[in-house]
Amino acid sequence: PTESEWIDMTLYNYQGHWHYAKQLQGVLSCQQHFQSHDNDILLVTSPKSGTTWLKAILFSLVYRTRFKQTGDDHPLLSNNPHTLVPFLELKLYFENENPDLSSFTSPRLFATHLPYRSLPKSVQDSKCKLVYLCRNPKDIVVSLWAYANKLRLPEMGAKSIDEVFEKFCEGVSLYGPFWDHMLGYWHESLKNPEKIYFLTYEKMKEQPDLHLKKIADFLGCPFSPKEEEENKVRAILDMCSFDFLSNLKVNREGTTPSGINYNAFFRNGKVGDWKNYLTTEMVTRLDKICEEKLEGSGLKL
Ligand code: A3P
Repeated sequence: PTESEWIDMTLYNYQGHWHYAKQLQGVLSCQQHFQSHDNDILLVTSPKSGTTWLKAILFSLVYRTRFKQTGDDHPLLSNNPHTLVPFLELKLYFENENPDLSSFTSPRLFATHLPYRSLPKSVQDSKCKLVYLCRNPKDIVVSLWAYANKLRLPEMGAKSIDEVFEKFCEGVSLYGPFWDHMLGYWHESLKNPEKIYFLTYEKMKEQPDLHLKKIADFLGCPFSPKEEEENKVRAILDMCSFDFLSNLKVNREGTTPSGINYNAFFRNGKVGDWKNYLTTEMVTRLDKICEEKLEGSGLKL
């Protein structure tokens, strides 16, 4: 099937979460074959939580001594972040049952949408570090709906927001239920804060400098006083900003190998855009679900 066709396909439940049948093979292969190294870094997100943004940020942060942030040869200028930080189950183990990862230089940087309980065992057993990014579900649902429609062919007609919203609230969304995904990592991050850095899109938007520095500390690559003086933190954030990335030629005109236009990953990148799309009833319903699911967890969205 083409990307446009499988966006409409039935989701299958595997280990308590929903996946497209086409993608399950990648999940299974990844679980079976991926061997994590102690210094690997994994970005984990729910779809539409800002994965593309954090991929760019982590890449720029972790490899900042290899590339000048202002240099013309910075890989982000000519590559979409998804190329630079590939998904394990959606790219590497999707394309190849047991891919050769020897060309990845240390520390290796990968991404995944897998829920905690479905991570390859070696990720849980090794000392690798995880950065978990989540987002307010009201913005996620709007972003999911917009993305689904972007991928649909004109003859397929538009998908209504009511349909996407209903399924999301039932817990039937890609890698959903959303709250289980988030709570799985939240509880683990409380138990093991050295291993999982739990971040929200909203916090990153609000205080990007602070969180970038915290992530750097967490990953063991803190900014030196000299780097702080040179405004390295700002340079990274500027290069990874929505306006800068979404206006690069590669992200405006390029496509993934499977044909998704990279501009589908950049819509408006705002907090609270749900106010323009969700009805009062929808907001009340989703707020109530989240309140119930998060009760007693200590997590506030
Ligand atoms: P919106 O649809 O609300 O605009 P993902 O990368 O996980 O698929 O998430 C996509 C969402 O992240 C989209 O949200 C997209 O616009 C937003 N996004 C992409 N790049 C961004 C950036 N550099 N800064 C902030 N948000 C970004």
